[in-house]
Amino acid sequence: MNILVLGSGGREHALAWAIMQNPKCDRLICAPGNAGMEAIAECADLDITDGSAVVAFCEEVAVDFVIIGPEAPLAAGVADRLRAAGILCFGPSAAAARLEASKAFTKEICDAVAAPTAAWARFEDVDAARRYIADTGIPLVIKADGLAAGKGVVIPETLDIALDAVKTIFSNYGDAGETVVIEEFMEGEEASFFVLVDGETCLPIGTAQDHKRVGEGDAGPNTGGMGAYSPAPVLTDAIARQAMDEIIRPTMAEMARRGAPYQGVLYAGLMIRDGRARLVEYNVRFGDPECQVLMMRLGAQALDLMLACAEGRLHEARVTWADDHALTVVLAAQGYPGAYVRGSVIEGVGSCPEDSAHMVFHAGTARENGALVAAGGRVLNVTARGASLQEARDRAYAMVDRIDWPEGFCRRDIGWRALR
Ligand code: AMP
Ligand code: GLY
Repeated sequence: MNILVLGSGGREHALAWAIMQNPKCDRLICAPGNAGMEAIAECADLDITDGSAVVAFCEEVAVDFVIIGPEAPLAAGVADRLRAAGILCFGPSAAAARLEASKAFTKEICDAVAAPTAAWARFEDVDAARRYIADTGIPLVIKADGLAAGKGVVIPETLDIALDAVKTIFSNYGDAGETVVIEEFMEGEEASFFVLVDGETCLPIGTAQDHKRVGEGDAGPNTGGMGAYSPAPVLTDAIARQAMDEIIRPTMAEMARRGAPYQGVLYAGLMIRDGRARLVEYNVRFGDPECQVLMMRLGAQALDLMLACAEGRLHEARVTWADDHALTVVLAAQGYPGAYVRGSVIEGVGSCPEDSAHMVFHAGTARENGALVAAGGRVLNVTARGASLQEARDRAYAMVDRIDWPEGFCRRDIGWRALR
């Protein structure tokens, strides 16, 4: 079959890499892609949030199956447009993608089924929000309701910062900041839980832990994620069952009941404490870089699972689990998540092994005159698999050490929570 992957990050390179290993894939196209995807698939220049353009492209090149990587095309309704045109697609409708696009919507769904999550309140008015904060005090968490490119969450250290934060969200965040959600601060350890949902059946496909802060020991500002590993030992089988029973299945049933059945991968951010999980947030896509470690472990069966999901056949699907571990280290441009320079040359990637246990996935990369250059903040995802997390980590950092990129940096402590 002809398959189109939408997106240009490390997540989509990892998806493309897994799909290519499955004999069902005859032709793979990535849009817009990056230098890593160019090496294993065709790349097409396409505005992936423009549903008409995506449908026209699929009809022109006879695409059989579309896999949507990032949230923006999902929130823009690209999956709806594809399905309306009769094209098989992996990813939720715009109505179901509200689980990521609106934090207040997700909280309402949780309340409707009594799913464990932080207590919350919503505000459309800055003065009411500031009065609430002054009455409640910190700790609390302040969130812009809409998609704010990962910048919409503030965990204020002082009351003044909290009061300023609501003002900033209301005045600077456009549509994303018309509503502010204020939540109870949950203590605990965070982990990511990935579940395929075909409207009815929910099938867990793995756990992972991200490293959101830029600095070692989880210090410094938040990023898109500086590294990840799978599985996440903190998310035990018992906690996964509790999360399925109390959070995932009830909320998915509520979405179906409201006429917006969910189809695609559901990424539940969970806060774990005293052997129980509470929902931090839903994302309607794979995590990046969590997808890289999940794909490393799932390999070619990832395509079969995504197909079963898109075709409503998850009840007959099975995940073949290996007793293995994967870890990915993000190499980012110096300055990230603040301002950084593009265009620096990266050498040594070609000297890294590429096999079922080693892979350098590309995020923000491009080719210029034959050289590999940095073209984004997060640039490479050096990923390895092993019989233990320690082995996966040793393999990943051995590859990192082969890469010659003075303008880049990485965290040296990916995996520390699980290995401590
Ligand atoms: P989000 O943009 O919703 O992923 O939030 C970013 C991060 O803020 C999460 O990954 C958590 O680390 C943290 N966070 C969000 N909500 C809460 C909460 N209610 N309690 C504690 N931490 C939170
Ligand atoms: N790594 C976090 C995310 O993809 O949202």
